[in-house]
Amino acid sequence: MKIIIAKNYEEMSQKAAEIFEDAIQKNPKIVLGLATGSTPVGMYEHLAEAHAKRGLDFSGVQSFNLDEYVSLAPEHPQSYHYFMNENLFSKVNIQKENTHFPAYNEEKPEESGARYDEAIEEAGGIDLQVLGIGQNGHIAFNEPAEQLSVATGLVTLTQSTIAANSRFFDRVEDVPKQAISSGMGTILKARKIVILASGADKKDAVAKLLDGTKVTTQWPVTLTLLHPDVTLIVDEAAAGK
Ligand code: F6R
Repeated sequence: MKIIIAKNYEEMSQKAAEIFEDAIQKNPKIVLGLATGSTPVGMYEHLAEAHAKRGLDFSGVQSFNLDEYVSLAPEHPQSYHYFMNENLFSKVNIQKENTHFPAYNEEKPEESGARYDEAIEEAGGIDLQVLGIGQNGHIAFNEPAEQLSVATGLVTLTQSTIAANSRFFDRVEDVPKQAISSGMGTILKARKIVILASGADKKDAVAKLLDGTKVTTQWPVTLTLLHPDVTLIVDEAAAGK
């Protein structure tokens, strides 16, 4: 794991955006794995700026988001569709049909996600994946547990994640209880992974990565220690410095 310690959120975002900009320039048909949440917002801002100022071209780029809530319509301001549109897609020239989100299959809930993993395979696999980390070490919505799912599918959010995500909703009761999340296998199949973490509340999860000696499903992000090409970009607060 390559480790980059940035001074603050801004520097973390900039370094992450540089990696993405470079990768898109080298491969204009790149398949990106994207995350929502507060962590990648700054990186998306830099990428939008790279498009506006330097003409960074997203017209051949495909994207697969990590997750989406089950009960929110794509137009809902807290849905991840909406988030991506607001923070990146509407600001660059990505083609809407090239952007993908996992979807809930109402008729066969247990099959929700299977089609998504196939679509990723059909696109040639994810070349570059960005990940944020939950305070509890989750990635996508793979919450700490004795067992973690390999494939993309339906997940029930833990109380700690519902509490953490309630900052985006008027009331904690409004936070959806279920989501479709990329599985650990789906994430670990990406050719390159960039993990971002900013702020002292990510310190415990980041410490497990910095230690680097053990993997455990109780801190799902530690499974990325098994991946051959991971760059961790953390600010000083998240690094515990
Ligand atoms: C979002 C996602 C989540 C977040 C994590 C951190 O697509 O998959 O795992 O990356 O919850 O969220 P923030 O960045 O808001 O601290």
